Amino acid sequence: MPERKGRIDSPTARGLDERALKYTASIAYDRRLYRHDLAGSIAHARMLAKQGIIAGDDAESIVRGLDEIRDEIERGEFPFREELEDIHLNIEARLQEKIGEGAGRLHTARSRNDQIATDMRLFAMEACDDAVLGIRGMQAALLDLADANQGAVMPGYTHLQRAQPVLFAHHLLAYFEMLDRDSGRFRDCRSRADELPLGAGALAGSPYPLDREFVASELGFSRVSRNSIDAVADRDFVVEFHASAATAMMHVSRLAEEIVLWSSDEFSFVCLPDAFATGSSIMPQKRNPDVAELARGRTGRVYGNLMAILTTLKGLPLAYNRDLQEDKQPLFDTVDTVLSTLETFAALLPALQVDGERMEAAARNSYMLATDLADYLVLKRTPFRQAHQIIGELVRYAEGEGKALSGLSLEEYRRFSPLFDDDVLTLDVHASIAARDVPGGTAPPRVTEALRAARERLREVA
Ligand code: ARG
Repeated sequence: MPERKGRIDSPTARGLDERALKYTASIAYDRRLYRHDLAGSIAHARMLAKQGIIAGDDAESIVRGLDEIRDEIERGEFPFREELEDIHLNIEARLQEKIGEGAGRLHTARSRNDQIATDMRLFAMEACDDAVLGIRGMQAALLDLADANQGAVMPGYTHLQRAQPVLFAHHLLAYFEMLDRDSGRFRDCRSRADELPLGAGALAGSPYPLDREFVASELGFSRVSRNSIDAVADRDFVVEFHASAATAMMHVSRLAEEIVLWSSDEFSFVCLPDAFATGSSIMPQKRNPDVAELARGRTGRVYGNLMAILTTLKGLPLAYNRDLQEDKQPLFDTVDTVLSTLETFAALLPALQVDGERMEAAARNSYMLATDLADYLVLKRTPFRQAHQIIGELVRYAEGEGKALSGLSLEEYRRFSPLFDDDVLTLDVHASIAARDVPGGTAPPRVTEALRAARERLREVA
């Protein structure tokens, strides 16, 4: 390969075929790890000096050089070079240009294998923190929407058939619970990512008298890895991040699907504000729920990323293999997707215009009180199975007459059971909702209390 002018030979890519170089280089995307990589190098250099492995002067000029490099990168002036493969070698080569020979001491007692594992863990821990914050924002938005529509009644569904009336706020709180579990998963993921690999070397450990605990505490890790082979081979924390993100996206996607349904003419439960509805290029009447649809669509991409990392890992012998470099792009993509989705939904939800009348009308215009009627008979000592059958016949009768349950007379009710009294005529969606007064039920006082408790939980995690 022709020697390129001004080229700094990579310690690893010397004489590499140009195609092989292009094929293996990761600098185009792993530059995103620059902050984590610099932090790791600075902590490592300080530790080497503290342990007398390199001179204090050398460590000082290394740290100064690395600080300058951070500024260069952030000003957009850093000369990234593909022939230097990855972020580690780009930074090291630049350090050499800045401080000369001393730069060569930074890589003492370190390998790119424990270096990249460290960078990735730092990145993943940060991403977990961001995801927890993003989830909090969306949870707060759900509560705002619920608060703004406290009394709204909607049909609750099973099989997408109107089943029993519920408070709209109760329905929204279901999503709050899902997101709460998601937040827990990201915290869990963070706690397992929180382990320092540096010191594992290439795979076997290091022959130098390292102070790994010092490096861990400099970088904000709460412990050091216990096995050097595992430390460089492990990407479970990446899998866990993807799995947590896939589950969170699945939840957002279910809500997205409901928003698509609710905003259709068929439901018309909500109206998307202009800021979140897109028009059609040919049909002027359209208000399309593109944000919800894309969240639903991108959920598929996030699932794909989970499959990608699992598949990458499944056949790898210990310890480090270059395949592991493939952990990055899907992770970056998933992080970006889940964070932007949470942020966008946090903005969209409080902006939804809810048509409470229309929702309540949908709850009234059906046979949703059938269960309540069965319960009515059960309270009068009819065995539940028998009550269920009686109400089944009553509903079929009403359907045949083209009447709503509320349109039947007491006389008609009595044809099906003599236990019916006047009070059956006062049964309505509000009575049905009020009756479900168990912990976790949709009775208004329960929901008010659930909203209060949810706010409280959000404050606790803040
Ligand atoms: N770019 C590599 C990665 O992302 C860094 C580690 C390279 N290690 C090696 N032995 N080639 O995994």
